Amino acid sequence: MSEKLWQGRFSEKTASVVEAFTSSIQVDQRLYAFDIQGSIAHCKTLANASIITETEASDIIQGLEAIKQEIEAGRFQFDDSLEDIHMHIESRLVEIAGPVGRKLHTARSRNDQIALDVRMYLRVATGDIVRKLYRLQHVLVALAKKHIATILPGYTHMQRAQPILLAHHLMAYFEMFARDMARLEGCLQRINVMPLGCAALAGTTYPIDRSYTAELLGFEKISANSVDAVSDRDFVLEFLSCAGICMIHFSRLSEELIIWSTAEFGFIELPDSFATGSSIMPQKKNPDVPELVRGKTGAVIGNLMALLTMMKSLPLSYNRDMQEDKAPLFDTVDTLAACIGIYTDMLPEIKFKEATMLQAASRGFLDATDMADYLVARGLAFREAHHLVGEAVSFALANKKELYQLTLEQLQSFSALIRQDIFSFLETRQMVERRTSAGGTAGKNVRLAIAAAEKQLARKKDYLPDFSN
Ligand code: ARG
Repeated sequence: MSEKLWQGRFSEKTASVVEAFTSSIQVDQRLYAFDIQGSIAHCKTLANASIITETEASDIIQGLEAIKQEIEAGRFQFDDSLEDIHMHIESRLVEIAGPVGRKLHTARSRNDQIALDVRMYLRVATGDIVRKLYRLQHVLVALAKKHIATILPGYTHMQRAQPILLAHHLMAYFEMFARDMARLEGCLQRINVMPLGCAALAGTTYPIDRSYTAELLGFEKISANSVDAVSDRDFVLEFLSCAGICMIHFSRLSEELIIWSTAEFGFIELPDSFATGSSIMPQKKNPDVPELVRGKTGAVIGNLMALLTMMKSLPLSYNRDMQEDKAPLFDTVDTLAACIGIYTDMLPEIKFKEATMLQAASRGFLDATDMADYLVARGLAFREAHHLVGEAVSFALANKKELYQLTLEQLQSFSALIRQDIFSFLETRQMVERRTSAGGTAGKNVRLAIAAAEKQLARKKDYLPDFSN
């Protein structure tokens, strides 16, 4: 391979073990398109400031475009001795364009260059993830509409608590993913800041117009402080924590689907095309997709921890430690994108077993709160009512009955305020429909929530971030 671009100061060759150890090309070659796009903008900025001539600029740009084609055609040689994607492209540029290629790296350093590349990569990736979440939101809303009348037990402490609409439960996930989208969009504002021209750390002596570079690359802002610009990886940490929280949501949904698909629950059946069998037990149908999503959450959280720990206590400004940010970042982007994608495909295919869900919602005293409410409506204080119903539950348990299966006389032995109308009051659907407080599970509220969600999605349609140009 050709001589290293920084070889001048050195009298000995780099040990090959060190080349292999310090090289990041296997990971950062993924940034090639952004590196080239950034270099083209930098080149124009240099010409704009008359640091190089227009002819030199166009020779360099032609060379860079040729390199892009070589890489995309699989004709480009990657080699550990050239360290990273910046060095590979610059070396090849000198080979293709001749000595003029050596002028490209004026008024910048790899420290601001890598910060630029990662920011360009991440704004595309973040926009892509937001758009994927947007599609998932549509699927959730459609599913909620389909199940606007389906009732299942709502749980607290994994114990049956009160009946709710499946649509309401699904819309809870809509809310979670809506927050994830908003968080990622907030993060995008901090990603979308242009660091190039900060050079190694102190800025540059050349009269470049950094705002011009930013404009060429579609950045809203330029970084305000050169030391910060090359030291800052907050935008990576922030993205990783947004991704971590989003994966937490997927892991919770996964856990629910796994539990719901057990024989013990029997609330759902996963589509055959999204499950696998066992190599030994012929009867098995395993919920692999939700299990793997739940499992992959570990790596995404781990990636956040890895980079928080890597950044912790790093003195300003750039340190080579920071090269380690890329593998965890890429892994997180790929994992999150894959999980959103597979859920978008799988959710509409799940079969919800409505009768089993309703049956579960009518066993286990899910009406106890409502019976207390009934007594409150007839003048008892809630605590008193709570106590009486507790006694009734204990009596019913001892007699292997539900509250609504006790006779009117039995119920009246706990409170004389109870009348015949208690039985319709305790019907599962009545209980759901009475929960009309804002954000509650009554069908009329959930229909409103769905309508609001649809409006929100429609409004958002033309404002989804897209940096893929
Ligand atoms: N490969 C480096 C990284 O990923 C690029 C910057 C290297 N700068 C340097 N002075 N060695 O962070």
